Amino acid sequence: MEKTLILIKPDAISKKLTGIIIDRIEHLGLDMKAAKVAFVSEEIAKEHYANLAGKPFLPSVISFMRGDFNGIKDHRIYAFVYEGENAVSKVRAALGATDPAKAEPWTIRGAFGCFKDGVMQNCVHASGTPEEALREINIWFKPEEVL
Ligand code: TYD
Repeated sequence: MEKTLILIKPDAISKKLTGIIIDRIEHLGLDMKAAKVAFVSEEIAKEHYANLAGKPFLPSVISFMRGDFNGIKDHRIYAFVYEGENAVSKVRAALGATDPAKAEPWTIRGAFGCFKDGVMQNCVHASGTPEEALREINIWFKPEEVL
């Protein structure tokens, strides 16, 4: 069965949107297989965003993921693994486009995201492909932490 990684980003945590976001994910009919509070080191953020290596906006994306914005200095996020048929595409559809300005208003990013301080503050990360999901789950979770 297909798995996907979901990270609730610091903007969503600071706006107290975690519950509403997880509610939307759970309504997709997927099963929660793992959940934890995760510390975001510079290293893990770089590994997670390895596909963005060399992009000019990578440093701000990393510092945003680490909560270094809006006066927040809490380097923790919430990480989840959800599983189900077509879990990756279902969650990405619920998220909407990467850029909150382009995301449909009924999607999570369209409803709650914004562009601020030079970075897309789009509330949630979710894996883009099933292969990416396996790589990303490995970064954030030990095998024994995933049901
Ligand atoms: P990316 O992996 O391309 O998108 P997604 O999160 O939808 O898989 O980009 C990672 C994050 O980088 C994205 O969530 C927001 C940020 N980002 C910017 O701030 N500016 C940009 O131009 C892009 C492409 C991404």
